Amino acid sequence: MIQLEGVKVEVPDFASQVRGASKELLADINLAFTEQRIALIGSNGSGKSTLLKLLNGLILPSAGQVTVLGLDTRPHGKDVRRRVGYVFTDPSAQLVMSTPLDDIQLSLRTLISDKDLRRRRALALLAERGLSELADQSIYDLSGGERQLVSLTTVLAVEPEIIVADEPTTLLDLRNRLTLRRAFAQLPQQLIVSTHDLELAAEMDRVIWLEGGRVVADGAPAAVIPQYEEAMALV
Ligand SMILES: Nc1ncnc2c1ncn2[C@@H]1O[C@H](COP(=O)(O)OP(=O)(O)OP(=O)(O)O)[C@@H](O)[C@H]1O
Ligand SMILES: [Mg+2]
Repeated sequence: MIQLEGVKVEVPDFASQVRGASKELLADINLAFTEQRIALIGSNGSGKSTLLKLLNGLILPSAGQVTVLGLDTRPHGKDVRRRVGYVFTDPSAQLVMSTPLDDIQLSLRTLISDKDLRRRRALALLAERGLSELADQSIYDLSGGERQLVSLTTVLAVEPEIIVADEPTTLLDLRNRLTLRRAFAQLPQQLIVSTHDLELAAEMDRVIWLEGGRVVADGAPAAVIPQYEEAMALV
């Protein structure tokens, strides 16, 4: 369970001529994330990534409160990050070791102290996702889709209770997008994604549409997505 109460995010506006001016990235955000699968949609710059970063304390609200699994992200950022796995748009930002196997072993370091056990667990996790053949391949030689799946495996390795993913399918071709969507559909964890992929959004339990840092519509995909498409003149 995630709760945002009276949340506002403001940053200094360096482009303004007015000294001390600030820019509002999010305002009036009051949301309780109770559904298992939630998508954030909205134009470029509408505040989706900013909202996602609030959920694991990567950024803190300028006003209001964000509570994740009962923990206020302000004092408990570290604990929150341990329980919320964050999947970036660009998996290169996530994968730090030179092979998938090494990367997952690194991720498991705090969970499993024995080296052999750690290696076996990492191999098992790769096998579960059908990625065994990639275990020792250089990260740089993986395709975008493979990298995204390895990155998801790395995040899942530490068994987070909630998964947050920022446009996880954006860089992927159709086949990989479908593979990733299938992987997401099978996750037992609560999932919060931001996306421009409206087919992915349609598979969620709830869709929240943001524009200009505010919630425009919030509800079932079948209700919210058509409104968004209409506003964007897609239909
Ligand atoms: N640290 C910052 N300082 C100033 N402005 C920022 C900062 N971070 C984000 N912004 C601005 O806030 C707005 C919202 O950004 P955000 O990244 O949340 O949008 P988004 O909905 O994720 O967009 P996209 O679909 O393009 O990923 C944008 O106008 C962005 O330029
Ligand atoms: Mg974004």
